[in-house]
Amino acid sequence: MKRFENKVAVVTGGTTGIGLATAKLFADEGAKVIVTGANPTTLAAAHAELDGKATVIASDAGSGDDIQRLAERVAKEHGVVDALFLNAGVTRYGLIASMDEAAFDESIRVNLKGPWLAIKHFAPLIARGGSIVLNTSITHQLGQPYTGAYAASKAGLRSLAQTAAAELASAGVRVNAVSPGPIDTPIHAKQGLEQAIRGVIPRIALGRLGQPIEIAKVVLFLASDDAAFMTGEEIVVDGGMTRLRAQG
Ligand SMILES: NC(=O)c1ccc[n+]([C@@H]2O[C@H](COP(=O)([O-])OP(=O)(O)OC[C@H]3O[C@@H](n4cnc5c(N)ncnc54)[C@H](OP(=O)(O)O)[C@@H]3O)[C@@H](O)[C@H]2O)c1
Repeated sequence: MKRFENKVAVVTGGTTGIGLATAKLFADEGAKVIVTGANPTTLAAAHAELDGKATVIASDAGSGDDIQRLAERVAKEHGVVDALFLNAGVTRYGLIASMDEAAFDESIRVNLKGPWLAIKHFAPLIARGGSIVLNTSITHQLGQPYTGAYAASKAGLRSLAQTAAAELASAGVRVNAVSPGPIDTPIHAKQGLEQAIRGVIPRIALGRLGQPIEIAKVVLFLASDDAAFMTGEEIVVDGGMTRLRAQG
């Protein structure tokens, strides 16, 4: 029997990168999958690529109205949710001194407020034994220039995972986070950093960027009964970048 047979999995930001890889893995493991995105082009591409393996829905991950509508639709069509992967995220890099306020607000809106709203609207749908996984980032553990908005949003998200885990434990719902290091996804190109991201490889002990599937596998572990005694935790998946010094 597949691990998610007859289960319902929702993946926000499931149209590209880590979310898309995770949606495919949930589907391969037998789940009925719902993915969201905001950009019409990537929504259409994901619809074609997932080809009947998932329902693809336009839903802004930072909008309370959209998230509430999404939860209502999922409730109507599926009744319950077994796995909720709050993955949608944006990077806005810039020095505190020069970054504009709107970029800071957008980071917090999509990366932190959105997941808070999603937990609020989806928690009543999550079955006992079900689970929420948040996608943080190792950046919130590193004091790095240019990451003031992004890292702060992810630090808040890590905190939210703990609070939600404490609040939902009595309902039998676990909440954990996965914390990726640099992963080879379209997110870097969105900031014109597709070449620059390769510059961090010397800081990664395993000597390469991670692949989306390597995060997806950890998400499925956290969402599955294999992690039945884990809640409020964050698993770092970064090729050793935060803990190890790469050999020169
Ligand atoms: N790649 C890395 O190195 C890395 C490292 C640590 C953490 N992460 C985290 O991993 C998550 C996924 O990122 P990724 O690397 O896979 O990047 P990605 O390929 O750019 O994926 C981001 C996903 O989020 C969606 N999204 C963005 N804004 C949205 C919004 N307002 N409403 C709905 N969907 C929205 C995107 O959909 P659209 O195409 O519709 O915008 C896309 O599906 C993010 O939370 C990111 O912070 C990534």
